[in-house]
Amino acid sequence: MGILSLIKPDIVLFVGDISDGNIRIIKKINLINIPTFVILGNHDRGKDSSGETLLKQIRVLQEKYCAWDLKIFNNQLNILSARPCSSGGGYFLSTEVKAVYGPISEQESVNKILKCSEKIVKDLPLIFMSHAGPSGLGSDSSSICGKDWKEPACDWGDRDLAVAISKIQKKRKIDLVIFGHMHNHLKRNKGFRKMFEIDKKGTAYLNSAIVPRYKKNEKGELAVNFSWVEFRGTKLTHISHRWYSELGEILEEEILF
Ligand SMILES: [Fe+2]
Repeated sequence: MGILSLIKPDIVLFVGDISDGNIRIIKKINLINIPTFVILGNHDRGKDSSGETLLKQIRVLQEKYCAWDLKIFNNQLNILSARPCSSGGGYFLSTEVKAVYGPISEQESVNKILKCSEKIVKDLPLIFMSHAGPSGLGSDSSSICGKDWKEPACDWGDRDLAVAISKIQKKRKIDLVIFGHMHNHLKRNKGFRKMFEIDKKGTAYLNSAIVPRYKKNEKGELAVNFSWVEFRGTKLTHISHRWYSELGEILEEEILF
């Protein structure tokens, strides 16, 4: 977290698989003194079918917590969030999420997102954050949301998210959809995943699941990965995956946009 205070982003987005249900990690997120927004992942449910572990995290995060929600940051940015704790694969609501939210159907999930989207501020950019990405972006194991751990490869994206995206795109531009869940290193030595693309409507899709997010060089110096996004005014101008040193210097940068 110390690196963030050196590289000074305007906001920090977490797209899930952070805590494994460990509340101490969530409490650390609360110590970040930069505006922070969090959508939890399937690995944050805490395997507690009562939903209590998940609820505890939601209570700790308070305003930072994003799920089926719209936040307007500083009159500069719309941040729309999708279904929490998704494990991809179309539509699946885990026991823990059901315990907290009730038995929400796929259509209800779409409706909840669309309801939030009604309050989007027209002249500001729109970022849509989710744990798993949307379906419809390819069925190969190396596709941005492609299933890689077992044959046959298929599209492992979220259908409710894809439907919500296409409905919102009929009304306005979505600048960026950002998610994680599907790791960059493919299983079974299949190489690397495609981590970025732009659709015909001009929406950028960024998979930020560089795993592991930490590495050490021969000298034992630590490098940490962040996805970096810049807007100039209301225009998206830069997206990259960056490795930072502990001193906040960029060691490596893969420019995606
Ligand atoms: Fe995940």
